[in-house]
Amino acid sequence: MAANLMKALCYDRYGGGAEGLKHVEIPIPTPKKDEVLLKLESASVNPVDWKIQKGMLRPFMPGKFPFVPVTDVAGEVVEVGPGVQNFKAGDKVVSMLSFRNGGGLAEYAVANKTLTVKRPPEVSASESSTLPIAGLTALQAITEGAGLKLEKSSTDKQTNVLITAASGGVGHFAVQLAKLGNIHVTATCGARNIELVKSLGADEVIDYKTPEGAALKSPSGRKYDAVIHCATSIPWSTFEPNLSENGKVIDMTPGPRAFLTSFTKKLTFSKKMLVPLFVASKSGNLEYMLGLVRDGKIKVVIDSKFPLAKAEEAWAKIMDGHATGKIIVTSE
Ligand SMILES: NC(=O)c1ccc[n+]([C@@H]2O[C@H](COP(=O)([O-])OP(=O)(O)OC[C@H]3O[C@@H](n4cnc5c(N)ncnc54)[C@H](OP(=O)(O)O)[C@@H]3O)[C@@H](O)[C@H]2O)c1
Repeated sequence: MAANLMKALCYDRYGGGAEGLKHVEIPIPTPKKDEVLLKLESASVNPVDWKIQKGMLRPFMPGKFPFVPVTDVAGEVVEVGPGVQNFKAGDKVVSMLSFRNGGGLAEYAVANKTLTVKRPPEVSASESSTLPIAGLTALQAITEGAGLKLEKSSTDKQTNVLITAASGGVGHFAVQLAKLGNIHVTATCGARNIELVKSLGADEVIDYKTPEGAALKSPSGRKYDAVIHCATSIPWSTFEPNLSENGKVIDMTPGPRAFLTSFTKKLTFSKKMLVPLFVASKSGNLEYMLGLVRDGKIKVVIDSKFPLAKAEEAWAKIMDGHATGKIIVTSE
């Protein structure tokens, strides 16, 4: 490889899936004001990465073609741009790159200092790279979307929460976060992951392919105060009879019908609500999640790891929608 060039994967048009990703050699980016240059050790892929490629967020994303996708990375600072005081070369960090600019499927990437945090030595690069989107979404869905507390208190009434797709990247964090609070967790996943999801702390787990699972019925007859909805395509009519009087559905993948339901519920002062949620990049949340992993309070489940040279296989796997935990791409 020539000096100042790096290996990366990019696509140059909408669509194309894993086959649309091309291995290229491109210049190592230069950190601008408030940016750091990272030598990447690990990246994790998320459904939003292939959704951007598919054109589901056009015209806003990606910012330009050709595009090096993926936002969730861990690596070592090798250079800092003007205005960066809190990082220096050699710092091990985790970053959430911008959705518009991406950059994670490469040997190097530039990250904004405000979306970068130092990672404790006890947390590996692979583990930490799983946290930006999946970890923050789970945390924000529970604490901000559902308004639940993540510490146990003997005075609080127990809350009943349903987590759909509890075996996925977001869901497996959501189960563990919920169990930090005074929360009874019902979870849905496929039959092959029931024992795993129980081991993460879920109190009852239902197979989504059974009639009870499809109906989202709690085996113990509970009504849900909140649903952390990480699966897709479940209509409001399925949630509604399972909600408590003030139950809320926090929807991670809201389509036009979900927005309409959400609007109608607000307009009619309904006690049962649908709340669309979009992850916000907050460095404080990332530090909090890193601390939980460091302290052994949250376990990262890794589905599979692929070297950068085979990152298209990670892409095909995340598109397939059957990951158990997180899919990682490592620098060789
Ligand atoms: N709004 C936001 O800011 C935001 C942020 C992050 C994620 N999201 C969205 O949230 C969704 C989940 O993301 P993720 O990263 O967790 O996805 P993921 O890791 O790809 O989820 C895969 C898992 O979901 C399970 N699953 C699929 N359909 C299911 C169903 N109907 N019921 C129960 N389990 C089901 C699969 O189980 P099987 O293999 O057994 O089928 C698999 O284990 C995606 O649509 C993503 O785009 C949104």
